[in-house]
Amino acid sequence: MGDAVKVVNISKKYKGVVALDHVSLTIKKNSIFGLLGSNGAGKSTLLHIIIGLLNPNEGDVYVLDEKINKGFSKNLKNKVAIVPQKLSLYEELTIFENLYFFAKSYGLPRKEVLEKIEGLKNILRLGDLHRKVKNLSGGYQRRTSLAVGLIGSPEILILDEATVGIDLETKKIINELLLSLKEHMTVITTTHSLEEAEAICDYVYFLHKGKKVLEGTLQDIIKKYSAENSGDIHIVFKDEEAAKKIFDLFGETKILRMEGNKLYLVFFSGQYSANVLTNFLNKIKGYEKDIVDISIHKPNLEEIMLQLIKSD
Ligand SMILES: Nc1ncnc2c1ncn2[C@@H]1O[C@H](COP(=O)(O)OP(=O)(O)OP(=O)(O)O)[C@@H](O)[C@H]1O
Ligand SMILES: [Mg+2]
Repeated sequence: MGDAVKVVNISKKYKGVVALDHVSLTIKKNSIFGLLGSNGAGKSTLLHIIIGLLNPNEGDVYVLDEKINKGFSKNLKNKVAIVPQKLSLYEELTIFENLYFFAKSYGLPRKEVLEKIEGLKNILRLGDLHRKVKNLSGGYQRRTSLAVGLIGSPEILILDEATVGIDLETKKIINELLLSLKEHMTVITTTHSLEEAEAICDYVYFLHKGKKVLEGTLQDIIKKYSAENSGDIHIVFKDEEAAKKIFDLFGETKILRMEGNKLYLVFFSGQYSANVLTNFLNKIKGYEKDIVDISIHKPNLEEIMLQLIKSD
């Protein structure tokens, strides 16, 4: 009870293609939920099912505690907004006209509409509102699309690849806005960019070929995989020759790699690593003056995801 979205064991096939395979998830209110996955993972399909545009072949979906059954009720229509992957603005109309049109479709009074448009103009730095959408750059079309999504003050805002192919400034504006929004709404966003997920998401759900690979809070995922799956120690030598000297002391080994004047030592948590590390430190004794820098590198989300897909 009280969750923004609950998806229970849904599957979706398109003529033989399995787009979603028994997916379950819960999205908490007032959080930023990141749906991650590469092309074709099933992200858009899942979002379209959540907003009642598509029906799953099996499983149930609840949005704000209401079971979705063949489309949205009128009650939900005003509470959930999607900013689609393929923009759906009226290209021949201006930014203002687009915002005005969508605001009126929510039945808002004119005065309130004008105030909201002014507010969104400032937050999203939309500039001159009387420019036609078709003449806007990709970044401004994205900003306008997001403004349209927000004009009805939804309780749940769904963004399908909202920051793909846009400039850094727009990306920054959108990400800052999303972070400030979660006080009042739940944000569901899809992205290929793990870096972006790390910057804004409270919780991530990683889909690969229609199946869940991983879910959790970012802190938990990174903690879990850094502990289990190790990290690297990077040792930088003054030159390649010095690095090679140490490298040769070890012979064939999978835990030590050399690139130019750098050695990479993989470590895992536990006794094994303790032995490896002590052994390594013993061997490099006397060579300290050849070492310029030592640093520890823990895997980031991107590396964790790549590892998981690779072992698939
Ligand atoms: N209307 C459709 N008819 C047939 N197959 C489809 C249809 N829509 C999606 N698919 C297939 O379903 C799978 C999931 O597609 P979906 O668009 O949900 O992935 P996605 O994660 O959103 O990908 P992207 O990152 O490219 O947007 C893919 O294999 C895709 O080819
Ligand atoms: Mg998609």
